[in-house]
Amino acid sequence: MFASFKSIASYIPERVFKNSDFEKIIDTSDEWIVKRTGIKERRFAAEHEATSDLAFEASKIAIQRAGIDAEEIDCILVATISPDFLCMPSTACVLAERLGIENIPAFDISAACSGFIYLLSIAKAYVESNTYKNILIVGAEKLSAITDFSDRSTCVLFGDGAGAAVIGTTQEKSSSVLDISISSNGKYQDFLVTPGGGSRTPIRADNVDKNLQYMKMKGNETFKLAVKTLASDVKDILQRNNISPKDIRFFIPHQANLRIIKAVGELLDFSIEQSVITVDKYGNTSAASIPMAMNDIYEEGRLKKGDLILLDAFGGGLTWGSALLYFNGGNLI
Ligand code: UT7
Repeated sequence: MFASFKSIASYIPERVFKNSDFEKIIDTSDEWIVKRTGIKERRFAAEHEATSDLAFEASKIAIQRAGIDAEEIDCILVATISPDFLCMPSTACVLAERLGIENIPAFDISAACSGFIYLLSIAKAYVESNTYKNILIVGAEKLSAITDFSDRSTCVLFGDGAGAAVIGTTQEKSSSVLDISISSNGKYQDFLVTPGGGSRTPIRADNVDKNLQYMKMKGNETFKLAVKTLASDVKDILQRNNISPKDIRFFIPHQANLRIIKAVGELLDFSIEQSVITVDKYGNTSAASIPMAMNDIYEEGRLKKGDLILLDAFGGGLTWGSALLYFNGGNLI
């Protein structure tokens, strides 16, 4: 028995925040943001919406598209760096309650922008060891809650959203999640960090005054390492599976920066038609970026059952990973 990618869905918050809106609050310009990042706008969740609310909306659709009832989900996994609550309960437990599902395992993982691929690797192992049969995996972020809107080097980059998928079973290798690689290197932990709020720097008025509860990034260093790591990771997984870039229908990289996506695509010989790009309209949504991008091409009617796709991510930790899979959801259009 193999793990199979049965459905994809996303939830995109309504509020559009354009680059020109940033021009009103910080010293930046639409021209700088577009040139350096490719981002034109991003979505922000409403004040009352938490990460689990975004996750819930995406999950409902993912379960329905998988053709199962919520009660058939036997495990819920959420990847997020902006959980509803800092320590407990997990966003996965809150989500389970919203979905009306009880008495199954539900937990969060923290692997930043690589979170969705980390989840997929856990789900694949559970399914193929016959532990669970229908696993809901969700990448969800309300990054606007942990963004410092006075720091122009980070605030223009991020957005909110959620993407969800159901990982089930198949007997056919040709409709399965073929291979996944995940990795990390804590040597670069200070490249992307939310310094305050944890046990190292607890929530205290003086730490909050220093804005330590917000994301910080060494952008340029992260950029260079991202291009190198993403490209070599993909080369490895393709080689290992004896697959050439032209066999891939869609290359879906983490959406952090258009320049990174283009540089990696060129190094790997992916055509512009193969590379999926959504960073222009959603910004960087961390763990949600890959499933959101995947859902966009699904809803456009481009992603079809049987398509061979490659996911590739890089993020805080540092963490990275790639996944090679046949999409096995029903065609929407
Ligand atoms: O999702 C996890 C992984 N994340 C990433 O992979 C992100 C990787 N990093 C990046 O995408 C890019 O490094 C950034 C988009 C964050 C920055 O682009 P950059 O080309 O690396 O710019 P920089 O940080 O070297 O800054 C260049 C200049 C600086 O001014 P000076 O020192 O040259 O005078 C910055 O102060 O741009 C300035 N700058 C801005 N100017 C206008 C930084 N942010 C802004 C801004 N508007 N928002």
